[in-house]
Amino acid sequence: MKKIVIAGGTGFLGQALATHFESKGWKVIVLTRSENQTLEAGQTVFWDGKETGPWVEELEGASALVNLSGKSVNCRYHARNRREIRDSRIQPTRTLANAISNVAKPPAVWLNAASATIYRHSLETPMTEATGELGHGFSVDVCQAWENAFFQEHLPQTRKIALRTSMVLGHAKNSVYPILARLARCGMGGKLSHGTQMVSWIHQTDFNRAVEYVIEDHDIEGTVNLTAPAPVTNSVFMSTLRESLGVPFGLPHYKPMLEVAAWLLRTETELTLKSRYVVPEKLLQHRFLFRYPFLDEALRALSGNRSDAESSIRNHYSLP
Ligand SMILES: NC(=O)c1ccc[n+]([C@@H]2O[C@H](COP(=O)([O-])OP(=O)(O)OC[C@H]3O[C@@H](n4cnc5c(N)ncnc54)[C@H](OP(=O)(O)O)[C@@H]3O)[C@@H](O)[C@H]2O)c1
Repeated sequence: MKKIVIAGGTGFLGQALATHFESKGWKVIVLTRSENQTLEAGQTVFWDGKETGPWVEELEGASALVNLSGKSVNCRYHARNRREIRDSRIQPTRTLANAISNVAKPPAVWLNAASATIYRHSLETPMTEATGELGHGFSVDVCQAWENAFFQEHLPQTRKIALRTSMVLGHAKNSVYPILARLARCGMGGKLSHGTQMVSWIHQTDFNRAVEYVIEDHDIEGTVNLTAPAPVTNSVFMSTLRESLGVPFGLPHYKPMLEVAAWLLRTETELTLKSRYVVPEKLLQHRFLFRYPFLDEALRALSGNRSDAESSIRNHYSLP
């Protein structure tokens, strides 16, 4: 039986992956800082993200390690939160590198979470792994330090991949889709600010499938943009969302309103206003086939509003 260890696997993406790999017959171990945590998927093992301990044995002979640890970025970026956002990503990454260098049979591949927000604000130029330009500011600095910590340690027996993931669309309550869908259903699903900023996104099913693909394709390494191949403007994103939910109109949100709302909701406008124009060049070069390359189908699938024809094709081929 193949074994995957998911550090920080109790959250949105960790549980999505744990469910996916369990359904494929893998043994799934979730490293968590909460003792006695019951999860939908995966067997929990305690770690503190800082020190090596008995949990290190779980890495011995594992087929894959995925590290998703990190404090949510959905908060105000004041000094304490900035420090926690940064430390909660870099420290567990270093701890895992140290652990891997101390096991006899290290994991064959290590995937570390990273973010598509590492690229600059771009309205017109798509950012690929090869030619994308890095941005600047707090979030980009964190992403760079996070990737540096990951790639720094030389681990000759372990292939390394940094997952530069865009916004993942799924149903989990701590993910962004349910929030946007609720806004849209209340008639508040209009464009955010000018609506010209690009939105890179990926359906949760393709996130899971792409992670499995890069684990199995032994030639893929380094940075990988984990995002659908067809990003859209925010204006198109919001109108496609409304359409998928059968909502005829959505009030637009002007920038000053967004600033106030972000302050009230204890979050930052950067999460919605930065133009993320990121494309998955490496995945496409390696012939990964997206199940949801286009937003309309991805959102229709999430809303449950698939056309009859689409549903019958999916049922025929046993697709989710
Ligand atoms: N969701 C997205 O759309 C998206 C997009 C791009 C990048 N990412 C990145 O992918 C990773 C996983 O995302 P997610 O949405 O699954 O996040 P999540 O739901 O917030 O889960 C993150 C996990 O990290 C662990 N964690 C939190 N604070 C920590 C700390 N101080 N030290 C060690 N571990 C800590 C928690 O596990 P325990 O409390 O059980 O230890 C938590 O379950 C994050 O690093 C995120 O930045 C996510």
